[in-house]
Amino acid sequence: MSVTRVFTSDNCTPVSEPILAAINAANVGMAPSYGLDDQTAQLERVTSELFETEVKIFPVVTGTAANALALSQIAPPYGGIYCHEAAHIMVDEAGAPEFFAGGAKLIGFPSLDGKITPQQIKGAVDYAREMGVHHVSPSAVSLSQATEWGAVYGLSEVAALCDVAHQHRLPVHMDGARFANALAHLDCSPADATWRQGIDVMSLGATKNGALCAEAVIFFNNALTRDFEQRRKRAGHLWSKSRFLSVQLLAYFEGGLWLTNARHANAMAASLSRGLARIREVSLLRPPEANELFVILPEPWVKTLETEGFHFYRWGTPRSDGVLIRLVTSFAAQAEDIEDLLTAVERAASEV
Ligand SMILES: Cc1ncc(COP(=O)(O)O)c(C=O)c1O
Repeated sequence: MSVTRVFTSDNCTPVSEPILAAINAANVGMAPSYGLDDQTAQLERVTSELFETEVKIFPVVTGTAANALALSQIAPPYGGIYCHEAAHIMVDEAGAPEFFAGGAKLIGFPSLDGKITPQQIKGAVDYAREMGVHHVSPSAVSLSQATEWGAVYGLSEVAALCDVAHQHRLPVHMDGARFANALAHLDCSPADATWRQGIDVMSLGATKNGALCAEAVIFFNNALTRDFEQRRKRAGHLWSKSRFLSVQLLAYFEGGLWLTNARHANAMAASLSRGLARIREVSLLRPPEANELFVILPEPWVKTLETEGFHFYRWGTPRSDGVLIRLVTSFAAQAEDIEDLLTAVERAASEV
């Protein structure tokens, strides 16, 4: 098995074999278009069984589309959407949520692990009420599971956020680009991780964890789905050959592939973390809970690793205690890849 030195993102991965096989298997004959195919109907049934409730699922091809469409459905143009200041919707989607929502404002809260708190929501809503017509109207909450800082909300944390949001009549969206990784960590049912704690709508990611290009907006609260079909079409996200999108998600769920892949990615991150923790002068921001690690290394080591062909992002703002890098593992990572990186860090440590 060849060693790959790419720890940049789980988006750099190939397609999981069973998903590619499912696309090939669907490549037979003609089928109704625009979501009227059998596979798309089957996907709704399978997802409802998996989540133990009747859901409405709308596949799209990017996470940005899933997030922006979901948020535009639950927040008006004059609304405020509460999220973390480092949320993907806030910093990595080129303004798509605001654009699709016709101008709604994202309001980001700070924290070190990417989680937001009920107190932050309550404080922001109180402030908005005080400002009245001059402020955006509190409209929705969005949380990322797992967070952009690699942490996973516990079930009681999700429930507490949903409780306070619902007290203020704000629907709650979950950005689940790495939901499978979070679920593998939580070791609970998909239902327990979402609607049973109060999540109204989620963006479910599959691309990072094995799909070719498959994400989905899943509504647990059917009262929120009105005209969503048309919203997706208007955004150019209703795929004509929809069977090829739906079969990716069917294969993703089939036999628990999504969890097998995510457990492997998480295990690779845990193994990398254990290895790094043994090296002096390496500090980890926190133990990994999903498949992302945030590590502080001396600058010369980082340069050496880059020169040796390792790929990763330098993360966050410059700091005095070294360089913070983000290391992402995936379903495609092999134990050899982890060993290769650990050996390189040890070598860099011994050379300085
Ligand atoms: C937290 C989070 N949300 C959503 C996305 C989806 O983004 P994309 O539009 O690139 O599929 C990503 C991808 O990096 C992500 O990390």
